[in-house]
Formats: sequence, structure tokens, C-alpha cells
Amino acid sequence: EKGGWPSFMKKEVSEQPEAVAKTILGRLHDGSVVIPELEAFGDTALQGIRRITVVACGTAAYAGLVAKYAIEKWARVPVEIELSHEFRYREPVLDDTTLVISISQSGETMDTLMAVKYARANGAKAISICNTQGSTIPRESDAVIYTHAGPEVAVASTKAFVAQITALYLFGLHLARVRGTLSAAELAVEAEQLQAVPDKIAEVLEQAEKVEQLARWMADTRSVLFLGRHVGFPIALEGALKLKELAYIHAEGFAAGELKHGPIALIEPGQPVFVVVPSPRGSAELHSKVVSNIQEIRARGARVIAIAEVGDAAVLPFADEVLRIPLAAPLYEPLLAVVPLQIFAMELATAKGLDVDQPRNLAKSVTVE
Ligand code: BG6
Repeated sequence: EKGGWPSFMKKEVSEQPEAVAKTILGRLHDGSVVIPELEAFGDTALQGIRRITVVACGTAAYAGLVAKYAIEKWARVPVEIELSHEFRYREPVLDDTTLVISISQSGETMDTLMAVKYARANGAKAISICNTQGSTIPRESDAVIYTHAGPEVAVASTKAFVAQITALYLFGLHLARVRGTLSAAELAVEAEQLQAVPDKIAEVLEQAEKVEQLARWMADTRSVLFLGRHVGFPIALEGALKLKELAYIHAEGFAAGELKHGPIALIEPGQPVFVVVPSPRGSAELHSKVVSNIQEIRARGARVIAIAEVGDAAVLPFADEVLRIPLAAPLYEPLLAVVPLQIFAMELATAKGLDVDQPRNLAKSVTVE
């Protein structure tokens, strides 16, 4: 039921604080993470893991890409992200020290299901991150960590995405505790940061009107680029995907560091570019590199829309628009920065008179290979 909202998507975007909070619920205790669903899996098995391969498609794969930064930092295990359909058909190297984590909102995506079956048949252990109780992928896995985003009806994924990142972060902290790579004090700091996310997403949602207005002004745009670095990179990819899916606009996301290796050739006067700006408090070096990127594209006439934390004044002289997100530690910024991009795509599609819940040619769950 839409419950008074104009679309399921708008409702689901607004439910993101709850989606994160409910996914955390019962898994954080006194500053430490315990995921009861992993008990059956066993700490010894988690201690023996040498490598994690994430398999997923679409938005779910971008959630995996965000979590790679956190899991590698916290648990010191290499993490690679594979599109399920690419993984399955290239004879990947697998053994019992490889953990395959599948991510799927529906739990029915055939490409991802086949990847999980293949991984287990070839000796790997499989954990699934899933939003749908009783679906097929969890049944075919050794363990499941459910996201508690509630039913997601709109085809384009929003609240499931933030819940997937949350579940993966919880997994990363659980793994770090079991492997002893983070101290109790460090775990407590991360737990506190994660618990603060729902209120911060709510703050971002309060500024929706500015993004909506921008989307309406840009309703005739034919191409939009997205740049991001570090955890902002997958958010750039997700921002572009949302715009393609919903508004049928050509959109591409790039790692900001790649700009000079090719994409800068695309910049011509008037080209809109969203830039996800990392916090200067997290890394002054990354921040200044991204600000330089903004200067480079601005000098070539790009129309820059920066997503930057509150108080970051360095972007002001070069950005045409600045969308603000609350202060957060760098690893938690993606959960905030994605929200204006979701709203932008949804409102631009609405301004074009399109159905945001049922975009053309797409299905909510793709049960064929
Ligand atoms: C696509 C959907 O077909 O499948 C995307 O349009 C989704 O929104 C992707 O991210 C993966 O789906 P699932 O259910 O496996 O997360």
C-alpha cells in the first residue's frame, strides 16, 4: 500500500532511516556486533577465510563495492566484487578458504542464484544478504543475514541498498571481532557511527525540496556524469544507474581519479556533473584531489553539482550547486550521499511524466539468466 505517497519509490526513499535502524536492531550489543544468524556458521570458519568474493547484480553489486572499503579496512581480508553473471562463466578460483557473499533484495535473481550454487559446488562457503524471507538464494546458502528494509515494491532499489550496506558493515564488524583485527574500543566507535546513520539520513531527507527543484530545472537534460572517489565511487555508479533506470537519460559514473585518463574528454560547456566530495576531515588529501577535479571540469564549462558535507567551504567557489550531507566518518558517507541522487533521479523522471515505480523494460526480480 502506498499509504498516501504519490509512488512506492517516494515512500521507500522516505523509509530509509527505518530500513537502516531495523537492520541494526538486535545485532549491536554494548558497542559490539553479534550477528546471531552467523552462530551456525561458526567463528572457526570465519577465522579461516582468506578471501571474500561478493556476487550480485545492479544496485546490490554497488552495495558490495561500498562495503569492500569497510570490510578490508576492519577485517583485513581481501574483498572482490563480481557481477554474478561474469563470475559464473569464467571458472573462478575457489576453495574452502573463499567466502562467497551474495547480495540480493529479492533472493530470486537467477544470475546470483546460479553464482551461489556454482561457488558451493566448487568448495566455497556462501553467506547471503537478502531482504526477502524464505526466498531461494538464502535457502541455497550456508547462512543468511537478512536486511530488514521491509517489502520494496518500486523496481529501482533504494531502501534495500542502504540496508544492504548496513548488513555488510555489521558483517565486517562481526568478522573483525572474531578475527581480532579491531579492538573493543575501535568496534565501539564504529558501532556508534552506524547507529547514528538513521537520524542523519532523516536530516538529508529534510532537504529534499532543493534536490527536487534542481531536478525540475534539469528535466530537459540529455546526459549527466557522476564522479566519486573511494566510497564515493560506487555512489557515483549508483547515481548514474538510478538516472538511467528511472529517467532514461544517458548517465555514467566514474572514479574521479580516472577523469584525466579519459572521461574529461566528454566535458563540454553546460555538461552537468555530480561530484561526491569526500570529507576533508576524513582525508584532506582525497578531499583536495576531488576539489581539483571540480576545478578541472569547471574550467572546461561543466555545470557542477557537488554533494559535500556541511561546512565544507572549499567547493563553494567552483560548484554551481551544493547539496549538503551531515558530518559523518568517511565510511558512513555513502549512506547519506546516495539519498540526494535517488531523489534527483526520481524527481527528474516525475518531471518527465514517467512512471517511477515501473520503468520501461525492467522487472523487480529477474528470474531468468
Ligand atoms: C535488477 C533490478 O533487475 O536486479 C535492480 O532492476 C536490482 O534494481 C537488481 O538491483 C538485483 O536484484 P536483487 O533482487 O538480486 O537485489
